[in-house]
Amino acid sequence: MTMRSAILGTGSALPARRVSNDELAETVDTSDEWIVERTGIRFRHIAGEDETTASLGTAAAQKALDDAGLDAGEIDLIVLATSTPDQTFPASATIIQTNLGIDDCVAFDVQAVCSGFLYALSVADNMIRGGSARKAIVIGSETFSRILDWEDRGTCVLFGDGAGAVVLGAEESERGILSSKLHADGRHNQLLYVDGGPSTTGTVGKLRMKGREVFRHAVVNLASVLHEALDEAGLATADIDWIVPHQANRRILDATAKKLGLPADKVVITVDQHANTSAASVPLALDTAIRDGRIKRGDVLALEAMGGGFTWGASIVRY
Ligand code: COA
Repeated sequence: MTMRSAILGTGSALPARRVSNDELAETVDTSDEWIVERTGIRFRHIAGEDETTASLGTAAAQKALDDAGLDAGEIDLIVLATSTPDQTFPASATIIQTNLGIDDCVAFDVQAVCSGFLYALSVADNMIRGGSARKAIVIGSETFSRILDWEDRGTCVLFGDGAGAVVLGAEESERGILSSKLHADGRHNQLLYVDGGPSTTGTVGKLRMKGREVFRHAVVNLASVLHEALDEAGLATADIDWIVPHQANRRILDATAKKLGLPADKVVITVDQHANTSAASVPLALDTAIRDGRIKRGDVLALEAMGGGFTWGASIVRY
């Protein structure tokens, strides 16, 4: 048997306010028809004043701990993937740590935009397999509504807020994370970025995107990194029970499945309900599909994401 990071539990959390396309169309020059046809998005949740990346991340992490049947005190590592932290520093992972009542553990944030959860999962998996952690919480949590330009209809309709979390545990086991592959190519900075930052403008900035070019890169990169991760795990596409993709756009999900030769009914889709929640979207989709009974213990999952940077990655997991 090999030492692996097994998924012991999952959880997710959404802001209370759910916003339909029709409601958005009251203030933005858009329509339900345009948004559904181009993206598949019907709803998104938007954080209220009292809801933040750390508060949503805490709620998701607590549910994942409950699902795993673990006490917070058993956790020795928290990795939070986010591009929308509560403060520039300290890491929002340390706020979540305190909210969970953990006095001492390793806690830090990872920033790889929409691929952030894949990056965070890989870092936590390596720390577990390397022996420096035994039980970890990996969280993706975002409040992208706070960095959207609500006058740019080409971007503001696409994103939502939310959080998802998994609890990982070291196990001599057949189950767990079988492989991870990560990539970054900083030459594409200007296709998807935020036009502010502490070291340049001293402001938070707003999200900017050339949607059509991002779309073009996404399908190619995602199909190729999924093949790499499958090769590393010694598996074939036919072994995949579920693709759990980053939920950016229904058309990207369909095109990626087609390029891999997988039927559309093996793809977990939540983009219609949550829109693009960046680093939160993969763990949020995973938790949703586990809780509604689609994903079962023993299933082989292919997690994948691509985002600003560009960054992209995939993990193969036996749940
Ligand atoms: N409502 C109505 N019309 C809109 C609109 C909206 N919300 N947003 C853009 N439009 C208009 C544009 O102004 C343009 O009008 P014009 O032809 O009169 O200039 C027209 O729709 C086409 O715009 P374009 O941006 O070329 O559309 P598209 O077919 O490329 O679709 C996206 C736009 C954003 C949906 C698509 O490019 C996409 O999904 N890209 C990937 C984005 C993504 O997933 N990013 C995150 C990765 S992590």
